[in-house]
Amino acid sequence: MAGTGIFSEILEGEVYKYYSDGEWKTSSSGKSVAIINPTTRKTQYKVQACTQEEVNKVMEMAKSAQKSWAKTPLWKRAELLHKAAAILKDNKAPIAESLVKEIAKPAKDSVTEVVRSGDLISYCAEEGVRILGEGKFLLSDSFPGNDRTKYCLTSKIPLGVVLAIPPFNYPVNLAVSKIAPALIAGNSLVLKPPTQGAVSCLHMVHCLHLAGFPKGLISCITGKGSEIGDFLTMHPAVNCISFTGGDTGISISKKAGMIPLQMELGGKDACIVLEDADLDLVASNIIKGGFSYSGQRCTAVKVVLVMESVADELVEKVKAKVAKLTVGPPEENCDITAVVSESSANFIEGLVMDAKEKGATFCQEYQRDGNLIWPLLLDNVRPDMRIAWEEPFGPVLPVLRISSVEEGINHCNASNFGLQGCVFTKDINKAILISDAMETGTVQINSAPARGPDHFPFQGLKDSGIGSQGVTNSINLMTKVKTTVINLPTPSYSMG
Ligand code: G3H
Repeated sequence: MAGTGIFSEILEGEVYKYYSDGEWKTSSSGKSVAIINPTTRKTQYKVQACTQEEVNKVMEMAKSAQKSWAKTPLWKRAELLHKAAAILKDNKAPIAESLVKEIAKPAKDSVTEVVRSGDLISYCAEEGVRILGEGKFLLSDSFPGNDRTKYCLTSKIPLGVVLAIPPFNYPVNLAVSKIAPALIAGNSLVLKPPTQGAVSCLHMVHCLHLAGFPKGLISCITGKGSEIGDFLTMHPAVNCISFTGGDTGISISKKAGMIPLQMELGGKDACIVLEDADLDLVASNIIKGGFSYSGQRCTAVKVVLVMESVADELVEKVKAKVAKLTVGPPEENCDITAVVSESSANFIEGLVMDAKEKGATFCQEYQRDGNLIWPLLLDNVRPDMRIAWEEPFGPVLPVLRISSVEEGINHCNASNFGLQGCVFTKDINKAILISDAMETGTVQINSAPARGPDHFPFQGLKDSGIGSQGVTNSINLMTKVKTTVINLPTPSYSMG
């Protein structure tokens, strides 16, 4: 059970502690932040409301711990990460339980998130020892006017303190996708979890603690974004920010200053369906892509752009599958569970009502009970409807009928987002042309958008983000190239 057994030291009374200087602590603020269970809409957990002084302290320790961590042999850093991955996987049950309670992720998917996170940590440790164990050697005489008098040695050095801010929908997995590359590369790490998902993050951090990382190297600060958010992201000790979330990322990027940023800020992933597509395959992928975790994924299919001639058949197939989706509590592994908050449910409802007023065809009756919204397919959506452009982050999927592939590509490219997209066709040559024309970080051919496997590059264009993720890209982003040049008095090939 969450907060018991090996995790009992992270809880004091009914409030979870924060992690600083290798210890679990209670904030001097004396205040806590409530975490509302999306299903029951009652307070499930409480976490510390940390103060700005506590942030300062954590940053100071992160700076000093990083200096010795950077000098710790790479194989030792990897060894600790492997140990942490094993502890995390061994303790998947209580962590998954908190995911179920905090973010209403179905129980099975919650376990998958924890296991995937352990695997990601191990992969990162392995990849890190390879790519950080190599450098380049350059000779000066390849550049015009130079003799071979300079040997240039390049290696990758850490940036310093990395601030990781994961989102509510993958609080554990998208935390470790930032933590593991930062640590293997020799950085220290300050984690600011999302409020919904904070308790799962604290459990995951305890697994790192038990693995035995040096004091101060990893910290986890909880609290209200309105009180410590800007203070953290604008803190002078921070040398890199890795953020996943909504458009808050745009304002963070404007305030952050001259430091590397890695950001993923959502998407409006289009699914373009051509006349020759395998419609059964498309329908299954629309269900998986549009409705898994109730549509609360950046990479969810968020608009279907289908050729008019096959639209009726596709809509019928998707409707039949929507009818089979189960709706209810995450504990029972229902396909559709409550969305994360009441404000999120209200926002989704606003998009649905706008589509209703403007004449979209409702393939199912709109139903809502608290934060639980039944899956809804909206057909005959037109570009003047908000749902054609905005990200519902819920189980509501619009279908726009198109009369040409160009119309589909134009709709996809007119979006402010550019995360992923997908195209369904049996004509691979055409698929490649469409992929090149779609202004998104990734295009999936004949499958729904997805970030994984976690070592694949993952990036968004336009308002969808900055920088690329995936194991190798994250390690590279969290390092800087350092060169040492050996200057010779005479060209090195002048003897003999
Ligand atoms: O929600 C944003 C995530 O990066 C999407 O990850 O494709 O594994 O669901 P996923």
